[in-house]
Amino acid sequence: MLKIISLTLSLILLPIVNLTGQQVNTFIYHIVTTPAEDTRCGVTINYHCAFPKSCVEYTTAKDTEFKEAKTANPQAELWSTKGIEKTSTTSTFYTKERYVCRVSLTSLKPNTQYIYRIIANAQVSEVKSFKTSAGKGKWNFVAFTDFQHYNNEITLPLIEKMKEKFNPPLAICSGDMIDVAGFEESWNWLLDSRISDSGNTAFASFIFAASPGDHEFWADAINGKYPQYTEPHTYNHIFRFPQNGAKSSLNSSYYFYYNNVLFISLDMNNSNISKGERFNDQVEWFQKTMDRLKGTYKYIVVYEHKSIFGSSIIDSAVGKYIRPQWYPIFQKYNVDLVLSGHDHIYSRTYRLDGNQISKKTKKGTYYLDMGSSGDKRRALDRSLTEDDTLHEKVIDLKGEKLSFAANIEVTKREMKVSVYNQYMQLVDTFTIKAKRK
Ligand SMILES: [Fe+2]
Repeated sequence: MLKIISLTLSLILLPIVNLTGQQVNTFIYHIVTTPAEDTRCGVTINYHCAFPKSCVEYTTAKDTEFKEAKTANPQAELWSTKGIEKTSTTSTFYTKERYVCRVSLTSLKPNTQYIYRIIANAQVSEVKSFKTSAGKGKWNFVAFTDFQHYNNEITLPLIEKMKEKFNPPLAICSGDMIDVAGFEESWNWLLDSRISDSGNTAFASFIFAASPGDHEFWADAINGKYPQYTEPHTYNHIFRFPQNGAKSSLNSSYYFYYNNVLFISLDMNNSNISKGERFNDQVEWFQKTMDRLKGTYKYIVVYEHKSIFGSSIIDSAVGKYIRPQWYPIFQKYNVDLVLSGHDHIYSRTYRLDGNQISKKTKKGTYYLDMGSSGDKRRALDRSLTEDDTLHEKVIDLKGEKLSFAANIEVTKREMKVSVYNQYMQLVDTFTIKAKRK
């Protein structure tokens, strides 16, 4: 009997091999480092675990043997998608209950590189790292959008190349990280694929922040159809962002600081929130928050999925509700940069004051839709862009077979945005001058 139990246990603990042939850890997985509201002293670590008891050991990067490590215990919630409307009963999110664990690391030292690992039932996860913000000084972050298609060959190498070239402490994605949120294999591919001996190095060394795309609302297929959740259930159990957003969109709307930049995520994806109560809730929250936080930042970067000034709008909710609602608000608060995706076409505006090109040096917002950081691309519909005077650069990703990511260098005087393709060739660059002291 004992033999059977120990054999069963060892089978559970063995890594499984996903469809790409890459190993996936089956007992401590989906490990993501997300920002606390103030990243000078805090981050949150979210992971899924097969065991009820686990802990995070963390220490400074110099202490490679974890000799001076501290221990933090998670809040653990036994979770699966059972009981959730429209969910697939064949997804491992449904069939495999797991503990969703959240650990808030607080009282960290600013401007410090940390390492951590997770321990559960004598099993030890791979080592991950992050760097707390200094609160000031020159720094950089990288931005992606629409990784999307499961197992595509662009995304993970693109993340690796951006990390190698720019060593960013922070990465942002403006939604559609996966194609089908209820299909757990797609999250395994993105977050857990073993792409080196030390595990998934793509997500191993930065703080990650994202807004949900419409695909974060897609449940897994039921009889060949993909119904949509009304909440981004799996996103909310994989990422633990600061709980300071609009009440009806907690975790998908939120803000945090990294150095002198205020980052704000908005949730504009489910058609239920393109208008109506939840949409209005975020509008109110955004304005109250911006009024309250006035004077605490040098730059404002908003990231949300649907492109407010896309080059050829493919989503009617944008033109009808989202654009007229939000551009006057971004104008009012003089937002510096809005990162988005959704259209799968590259489009980058001039500096816009409202819905027109800005004539004042210290006024205006750049809208950057990188289109795709994966292999889902759309062709540009030129009939829709004939009268386009708002965009300085538009690129047909499908025709050119390109995928993009950006590095943003931040100094006291400016933010310099450089956009690269998957071959690490520079495709666009623009500079956002500081508007605040
Ligand atoms: Fe997308």
